[in-house]
Amino acid sequence: MTRGQYPGPLLLLLCLLHGSQETCPSMCLCVSDTVSCSSSGLAKIPLSLPPFSVTFDLSHNHLSWLGPGSFNSMPRLENLRMAHNQLSSLGSGVFNNASGLRLLDLSSNKLQVVEQHYFQGLWRLEELLLYNNKIAQVEAGTLSGLSSLKKAYFSLNQITDFPFFSIQDHSHPFLTMLDLSSNRMTRLPWEDVKALPRLVQQGLYLHNNSLICDCSMYSVFWHWNLRGYDSLKDFTDEHTCSIYGDPQAAIRFLRHSRFFHNCTLEKVVSQPVTVFLSNVLVSEGERVRLDCQTSLNGADLSFTWLSPSKGYITQSSINDTLISLFANGTLEIQAVKVNDSGLYVCTALDIKQALNATREVNVTVLLPPAESFNTGYTTLLGCAVTMVFILMYLYLTPCRCSCCKQPKPPVIPIATYDASTLTSVFSTSPRDQHKIQANKHVAFMEPMISEEGIAWAPEC
Ligand SMILES: *[C@@H]1O[C@H](CO)[C@@H](O)[C@H](O)[C@H]1NC(C)=O
Ligand SMILES: *[C@@H]1O[C@H](CO)[C@@H](O)[C@H](O)[C@H]1NC(C)=O
Ligand SMILES: *[C@@H]1O[C@H](CO)[C@@H](O)[C@H](O)[C@H]1NC(C)=O
Ligand SMILES: *[C@@H]1O[C@H](CO)[C@@H](O)[C@H](O)[C@H]1NC(C)=O
Ligand SMILES: *[C@@H]1O[C@H](CO)[C@@H](O)[C@H](O)[C@H]1NC(C)=O
Ligand SMILES: *[C@@H]1O[C@H](CO)[C@@H](O)[C@H](O)[C@H]1NC(C)=O
Ligand SMILES: *[C@@H]1O[C@H](CO)[C@@H](O)[C@H](O)[C@H]1NC(C)=O
Ligand SMILES: *[C@@H]1O[C@H](CO)[C@@H](O)[C@H](O)[C@H]1NC(C)=O
Repeated sequence: MTRGQYPGPLLLLLCLLHGSQETCPSMCLCVSDTVSCSSSGLAKIPLSLPPFSVTFDLSHNHLSWLGPGSFNSMPRLENLRMAHNQLSSLGSGVFNNASGLRLLDLSSNKLQVVEQHYFQGLWRLEELLLYNNKIAQVEAGTLSGLSSLKKAYFSLNQITDFPFFSIQDHSHPFLTMLDLSSNRMTRLPWEDVKALPRLVQQGLYLHNNSLICDCSMYSVFWHWNLRGYDSLKDFTDEHTCSIYGDPQAAIRFLRHSRFFHNCTLEKVVSQPVTVFLSNVLVSEGERVRLDCQTSLNGADLSFTWLSPSKGYITQSSINDTLISLFANGTLEIQAVKVNDSGLYVCTALDIKQALNATREVNVTVLLPPAESFNTGYTTLLGCAVTMVFILMYLYLTPCRCSCCKQPKPPVIPIATYDASTLTSVFSTSPRDQHKIQANKHVAFMEPMISEEGIAWAPEC
C-alpha cells in the first residue's frame, strides 16, 4: 500500500477532522455529544456548534437575549442548560427547531412574564426549571402543549396567580411535580386546585407563599396532610398563612389548627385511614360472611376485596354464584374450601372525598371439625385399625381375592394446621369443645359464635 494510491479518502478524513474541530468554539469544551460553554463570559450563543450535540450547557454566562431559531443547528438537542444568565424575556421562535428538548433549565435568570409562546412545540419537554427568576405572571396557555411534562419548577419568583385550570389529566398525564413554593400567592382558586389530577396534587409545593388563612384553604391542606403527602411532611413549618391578611400575624397552620376550629369541614370529613385486622376461623363447606366496616361511612362507598384464591373481587367482576358482594361491602362465600384460607383485604373507597380505608381479615379454613381428633385419639384409632388388620391377616388368610376384599384403611385427616391454632380454637372447656364439634359450627379466635354461623372477631 502506498500513499499515492488513496489520496481522496485521506483528504476527506482530514477535512472531516478539521471541520469538526472547527465547530467546537474555542471557549467551550466538546465531549462526545456534550458541549459545555459554562462560565465562558458569553453574551451571545456561538455561531458554529457541533450539530450532533445532545447536551448544551450555557449556564453562568451573560446571555440577555436569544434570537429566533437560536438552536437550529443542533437538531439532536435534548438538554439545554441556561441557568445564571441575564435573560429577561424570550423572543418568539427561540426553540423553533429544538422540539427534541427534554430538559430546559432557565433558572436564576431575570424572566418576568412567562408568555404563552415561550415553550410552543416542546411537546417532548419533561423538565422545566424556572426557579429564581422575577416571574410575576404565568400566562394561561404557557403549559398547554407540554404534554410530556413531568416536573416544573416555579419556586422563588413573584407569582400571584397560576393557571391551575390549564392542567388536566389528559393534557399532562405525566406531571408529578409542580413547585410553586416561595412565591406571592395570597388566595388560590381552590376549586381548580382540587380538580387537579391526583398525581399533580401529590407533587404540588405551595409552602412559603403569602397565603391568607381561611377555611377553604385549610380544607385542602388538611386533606393533603391526611394523605401524607411529602410536600407537606417535608415542609411542615414553612406552611404559613396570615390571619386577616396581616403579614405580622402569620401562623404555621399545619401545626396550629386552633384558628380553623370554626371551619365545618373537619366535622364533615371522616377519621384518618385505619386498618382493622381480624381473624376468622371456619370449617370447610361453611358459608362465610366478611364485613367491610371501616372508618369510612356514607352512601357513596365502593368496595373491592382482594382474596388469596380469587384475586380482586368487585361487584361487577363477580362471575360465580357461590360468591356475593353486598352493597354494604360484605363479602359472602357459600362454601369455603381449605385453599380459600389466607388474608382477605377489603378497600372501601369514597370517591367524592378521595379517601379510602382498608379492612383485613385473616381467614383460616379447617377441615370439618367432626373428623379432627386430638392426637391421642388419632394414635389410639391408628392402633385399633392396625390391630384389626393383624387379626384379619391372622384369621381370614388364606383368602381368595374373589371371595373377600380387604377393606382399605379409612383416611384419617392428619391435622394440617399447627397445634397453636388448635389450642386457640378449642381452648374452651371440653364440653364446649364437644358442642362446637357436634354442631359443625364455626369457631373464632375469640370465642364468639354468631347465629348465622359467621361474623368477625374484632381485635380492639
Ligand atoms: C426550522 O423549522 C422550520 C419550520 O418550523 C423549517 O422550515 C426550517 O427548515 C428549519 N430549519 C432548520 C435549520 O432545520
Ligand atoms: C421564602 O421565600 C422568600 C422569598 O419569597 C425567600 O427569600 C426565602 O428564602 C424563602 N424561605 C424558604 C425557607 O424557602
Ligand atoms: C388509598 O389511599 C392511599 C393513600 O392514603 C393510596 O396510596 C392508595 O393508592 C389509595 N387506594 C385507592 C384504591 O385509591
Ligand atoms: C369561632 O366562633 C366563635 C362563636 O361563633 C367565636 O367567638 C370565635 O371567635 C370564632 N373563632 C374564630 C377563630 O374565628
Ligand atoms: C383449591 O382446591 C380445589 C380442590 O379442592 C382445586 O380444584 C382448586 O384448583 C384449588 N385452588 C387453588 C387456588 O389452589
Ligand atoms: C365468566 O365465566 C365464564 C365461564 O364460566 C368465562 O368464560 C368468562 O371469561 C368469565 N368472565 C369473567 C369476567 O371472569
Ligand atoms: C350487609 O348486607 C347484608 C345483606 O343485605 C347483611 O346480611 C349484612 O348483615 C350487612 N352487613 C352489615 C355490616 O351491615
Ligand atoms: C393468619 O392466621 C394463620 C393461622 O392462624 C397464621 O398462621 C397466619 O400467620 C396469619 N396471617 C396473617 C397475615 O396474620
